[in-house]
Amino acid sequence: MTTIAVAGKGGTGKTTIASLAVRYLIGKGEGPVLVVDADPNSNMGQTLGIEVPITVGSMREQGFAGDRDIPGGMTKDQFVEYKMQEALAEGEGFDLLTMGRPEGAGCYCFANNLIRRFMDELAADYRHVIMDNEAGLEHLSRRTTRTTDVLLVVSDAGMRGLTAAARVLELADEMKLDVGRRMFVLNRATPETAAALQPEIERLELPLVATLPEDPGLFEVEVAGRSLLDLPGGSPFVSAAASLFDMIFAAQ
Ligand SMILES: Nc1ncnc2c1ncn2[C@@H]1O[C@H](COP(=O)(O)OP(=O)(O)O)[C@@H](O)[C@H]1O
Ligand SMILES: [Mg+2]
Repeated sequence: MTTIAVAGKGGTGKTTIASLAVRYLIGKGEGPVLVVDADPNSNMGQTLGIEVPITVGSMREQGFAGDRDIPGGMTKDQFVEYKMQEALAEGEGFDLLTMGRPEGAGCYCFANNLIRRFMDELAADYRHVIMDNEAGLEHLSRRTTRTTDVLLVVSDAGMRGLTAAARVLELADEMKLDVGRRMFVLNRATPETAAALQPEIERLELPLVATLPEDPGLFEVEVAGRSLLDLPGGSPFVSAAASLFDMIFAAQ
């Protein structure tokens, strides 16, 4: 089983790349995949084309605040597990767990506590786990998740994205996250922009493993409100992403 966490500045392509990784794995017969949408600004339900019943964060508002809400005959753990199952959106070849919005003041205490306690059990039912994170790595804190095999940091072809990527990698070190490999991906780059950014990528010591081009097809799929699972294959972007995933999953 491979656990991949995608991180980086907002708008750089994390959710897109995470969604394509799901599609890649399903296409290779490597399902079922557990997808964890841990970025309150993302919507993997949309990119994967499924309805999200409830988010983990909203479970508290759904009348699940304390022990008194637990039905008779159930232990607290059994009840929480039951609720977590309820929050899983089922797709073909994957299930999606959506963390949802923070509980005020950026606190994910409740959702994180649940994930901390039940993630390992939940993940055991899947072949791979793909987690779409916010830049702060909030959900990746050492206690929340199991080993992350690959921390995939994404940037667009811009200086702010690169700086944010370097910061994410620093943060992962500071938090002493249990990470197997760190990988950096430059998204929406042309050979020219990639070459121009090369010195900065080296200066920041970003572990560049792939450069992905702009894909006009992404915009079309998005405006049409379709899922990224329907993105036509064969574009240079989809091919480059597939080579990246070949490398990631072959090495596991
Ligand atoms: N290689 C690409 N070519 C064209 N558009 C892209 C590419 N990567 C991402 N996008 C677009 O950029 C926007 C932000 O991407 P998204 O994956 O949501 O970023 P993030 O999850 O990092 O915030 C989306 O509209 C997406 O379709
Ligand atoms: Mg996103």
